[in-house]
Amino acid sequence: MLSCRFTILTAMLAASLAAAAQTSTTLKDAYRSSFHVGAAINEAQIAGTDARGAEIAATQFDSITPENVLKWERVHPKPGVYSFDLPDKYVAFGEKHHMFIVGHCLVWHSQVPDWVFEDGTGKPLTRDALLKRLRDHIFTVVGRYKGRIQSWDVVNEALNDDGTLRQSKWLKIIGDDYIEKAFEYAHEADPQAQLNYNDYSLENEAKGRGAIALIEKLQAEGIPVAAVGIQGHDSLDWPSIEQEDASIAAFAKLGVKVAISELDIDVLPPVAPGSADVSMTLKADPKLDPYVNGLPDAVQEALAKRYAALFRVYLKHRAELSRVTFWGVTDGDSWRNNWPVRGRTSYPLLFDRSGQPKQAFYAVIQAAARPGLSHGSDAIPIEGR
Ligand code: G3I
Repeated sequence: MLSCRFTILTAMLAASLAAAAQTSTTLKDAYRSSFHVGAAINEAQIAGTDARGAEIAATQFDSITPENVLKWERVHPKPGVYSFDLPDKYVAFGEKHHMFIVGHCLVWHSQVPDWVFEDGTGKPLTRDALLKRLRDHIFTVVGRYKGRIQSWDVVNEALNDDGTLRQSKWLKIIGDDYIEKAFEYAHEADPQAQLNYNDYSLENEAKGRGAIALIEKLQAEGIPVAAVGIQGHDSLDWPSIEQEDASIAAFAKLGVKVAISELDIDVLPPVAPGSADVSMTLKADPKLDPYVNGLPDAVQEALAKRYAALFRVYLKHRAELSRVTFWGVTDGDSWRNNWPVRGRTSYPLLFDRSGQPKQAFYAVIQAAARPGLSHGSDAIPIEGR
């Protein structure tokens, strides 16, 4: 009896996936009435040297985030020297394709050159001098794209895992209010832009609590924080569906929008679930890289189910979500191939290394068509359930 039911379900699943495979539905069309579906795009896609990746981005997504080109070390590598060639192309790409354009990121502890924190003799800057440098940077970068970049990750990853403030150079030199100042400067530079606080592991209790306290503090001070970016560097079993659901609800309750801002799902042996601490590096080990010759069907299917389950949670919160952005276009582009172990073969996204949609892509499309399924279920929505 059980095996008969299993066979029928399997046949229905195969039929459903085959039907989806033939559909020309795109991610952005499937979710158009719910939220933007975005992707982080890299230098090659922006410059056009990866024409296939750029084409997938243009066809499938209606929002973009620059994976790296607007980070301080890239856009402002030396005092007084700005490098706007790729950022200009990035914004032009988004405008050409009528996308919701995100800026990432203005203040981060990482990828900021040392000179930013030092005077001409190498001594640490004073609070006032660093605030002036921060203001100049924000006015120059945000000001250049005023009215064109609609949403900015103003402060990125300011919290430790226990929810306390990270002891970054920004905090050590300026004090806790560097966060407020960054939001004030960004708001002054473009009053219409949606300003975001962005971080990873916010689904974990302590860090989530820290983020809620931070947003409440900013709100009490009248700081215009409009959205929280839950990055979403997930794995097959972290966060739980309940954690994701509760986390989105908790931020939405504060009256801010929520963006799933850097979504990907790690299928490799877990090394640091939920973390995206870029300073972490581990030694290569074949045991940590088991799928160099391809992803087994069972894992492919587990990934599809996991994506479908998460998208059902996002759909439940469609009124509170502004966008769901994947951190990369194809598996080959993903930072996951190099973190926290360099040179692994990772499979975290919806398009494979040759740009073909994976089973997870069809599962995400199908989730939009059948939003009513139980949010706790990890089953791919199929006909008759
Ligand atoms: O482009 C250079 C290349 O010219 C050089 O030969 C090579 C040698 O290492 O480095 C290349 O740059 C690398 C770049 O990615 C592009 O691949 C940098 O070393 C590397 O540090 C950089 O990593 C990025 C990381 O942030 C640090 O900025 C990842 O691409 C990017 O996906 C990742 O994104 C972060 C978000 O901004 C914030 N949240 C976490 C997320 C994942 O770590």
